[in-house]
Amino acid sequence: MDKPLPSALARRISFRQLQVFEAIARHENFTRAAEELFLTQPTVSMQIKKLEESVGAPLFEHIGKKIFLTDIGKELYQSVRDILESLAQFEMQAADMQGMKTGHLRLAVVTTAKYYAPRMLGMFCQKFPGIEVSLKVTNRERLLDRLLQNMDDLYIMGRPPRNDDSHFISLIENPLVVIAPRNHPLAKRKGLLTFEDIADQQFIIRERGSGTRRAIEDHFMERGREIRIKMELGSNEAIKHAVASGLGISILSRHTMSLGIQSGPLVELDVEGFPISWPWYIGYPAGKRLSVVAKTFLDFVASDAARIDTTEILTAAAV
Ligand code: PGA
Repeated sequence: MDKPLPSALARRISFRQLQVFEAIARHENFTRAAEELFLTQPTVSMQIKKLEESVGAPLFEHIGKKIFLTDIGKELYQSVRDILESLAQFEMQAADMQGMKTGHLRLAVVTTAKYYAPRMLGMFCQKFPGIEVSLKVTNRERLLDRLLQNMDDLYIMGRPPRNDDSHFISLIENPLVVIAPRNHPLAKRKGLLTFEDIADQQFIIRERGSGTRRAIEDHFMERGREIRIKMELGSNEAIKHAVASGLGISILSRHTMSLGIQSGPLVELDVEGFPISWPWYIGYPAGKRLSVVAKTFLDFVASDAARIDTTEILTAAAV
């Protein structure tokens, strides 16, 4: 028979203590952890005291009203997360072996994909009702941070990291188009506008760290121009409102227009060199062990079942 794994600590601590510790570290708060686990605060404190005795060092520091993990606490937190992640993987694997698709999918997408991703997830959840989904929406820079910290199962973004062996497959076109208020002089001009026609305009543009912004800056740089920024805003919706109120023009993903540009206050300008092509990819970083549920989702995405009607996204909006 195999020998037991040589961990003296494993004999001294309980799984419950690790669960309590994980909840406190995640919430950075004893009371909230106690509430989540339906325990009293003295019980939670006692569990941590015992765990600290077994480890032989403090796991938390109390500074003012806040708590922080000590260096040893941080190491233990990482190990406990690995253990829990491994158990979750096992749970999904076991369900899969019994013919059930259950488990949790953590999908993280760039801000601009928040219009598209829920439609795809809706179809997925209909097909696999036993799978729970959480969707994290954030800008490109923060998404890359999450990817480095291995916080999610799968990621959707434009231009995925290519300096490692990450696994990304192409997902859908994401055309970036020039938008202006309906009464803008450029909107009244007939025929194709040149790049020079728009290059001197005042732009309302996404915050630094946004993938859309990066694509636009690259586009201007390739043409030897610098974009004139009138205002930076952290949301596509806020940009649409600012453009509609005449503060400037913008370049946004056509996905952000999908629900109603035809009759609204905005129009898409027909400009040479546009739309900028900034397609989205779906995937995960190198070395990641995909859960059964994440694999199921990737298979679904690659199948016909996930095909969303993208006509309105891929063809210019009628103006
Ligand atoms: P963003 O990213 O939402 O951060 O602008 C979009 C993208 O990378 O396609």
